[in-house]
Amino acid sequence: MRNAKTLEIGVIGCGSMGAELAGVVGHDGPGGIPGARVTALLDVDAEQGRALADSLDSHPGSFTDQAEFLTSGDIDIVVECASQVAVRAHGEAVLRSGRTLLLMSSGALMDPELSAALLSASEETGAQIIVPSGAVGGIDALRAVRADLDSVTIVSTKRPAALEGAPGFAEWEGREITEPVTLFDGPAAEAVKLFPANVNVAATVSLAGIGSERTMVRVVADPESPGNVHEIRANGGFGEFIFKLVNRPHPKNPKTSHLAVLAAIESLRALVNPGLRVGT
Ligand SMILES: NC(=O)c1ccc[n+]([C@@H]2O[C@H](COP(=O)([O-])OP(=O)(O)OC[C@H]3O[C@@H](n4cnc5c(N)ncnc54)[C@H](O)[C@@H]3O)[C@@H](O)[C@H]2O)c1
Repeated sequence: MRNAKTLEIGVIGCGSMGAELAGVVGHDGPGGIPGARVTALLDVDAEQGRALADSLDSHPGSFTDQAEFLTSGDIDIVVECASQVAVRAHGEAVLRSGRTLLLMSSGALMDPELSAALLSASEETGAQIIVPSGAVGGIDALRAVRADLDSVTIVSTKRPAALEGAPGFAEWEGREITEPVTLFDGPAAEAVKLFPANVNVAATVSLAGIGSERTMVRVVADPESPGNVHEIRANGGFGEFIFKLVNRPHPKNPKTSHLAVLAAIESLRALVNPGLRVGT
């Protein structure tokens, strides 16, 4: 027998990730999230919100205003799939309203002031902040051995086109790269400034493990890279693990790995349909 209550989901950000996630809410079957429905959408771009609302059977309200979104009806869980700016603009209000916040723009938590404000709101209301594993994996193992970690490194390898526009790629902009080039080797705290598109991966790994000053990041541009490749290596008293992901880009946004959306969907599924949970 299913939960009596259908959980009501609000989504902030109706782009590639938000649209795919909202599209599977309420559906039975392997890729779906039964027992839930999307009731409200928030996006700075009214057209994005409206287009997604029109495509959903649950006919959610679509808003550009935070207060209207939060008071529009029943929302149990808010899923943020928008941007770090959106976390800054809406995260605290969501938590202060007592809703669980599933947060995809985890890079926002690298800002100590914002992070402290969100944690304080969470403590006061008891509302949880959940950061899905996103575009990486092994986060459960990393968390489990956190107290026993000596070192954590991430090597992120991408094709040059996927790094264009990043401040850390500036000197290579317009130049041909014919073999793998290491663009950066240093702490995650520094990497996220030079490669903001990598910020979520570095942030999630740092938050789960030993923090952004001790987590080391190497960024490599490789014209032959088979996708967005992330290799996480952790060492400590527990032993060692090496976790490698070769991610395909999302068909609607090449900067987002498709795995990130699937991880968000899986986290939401676990919240909505508790039952048996393996590995969390
Ligand atoms: N955790 C991870 O591993 C991981 C992986 C990939 C992407 N992400 C992050 O997830 C987020 C969503 O990714 P996406 O591919 O769906 O992006 P997208 O650009 O396809 O869509 C983002 C949507 O959010 C809206 N938006 C942006 N700022 C907003 C704000 N302040 N308030 C309300 N709406 C706002 C945009 O109008 C757009 O419709 C991004 O921040 C991205 O960096 C996280």
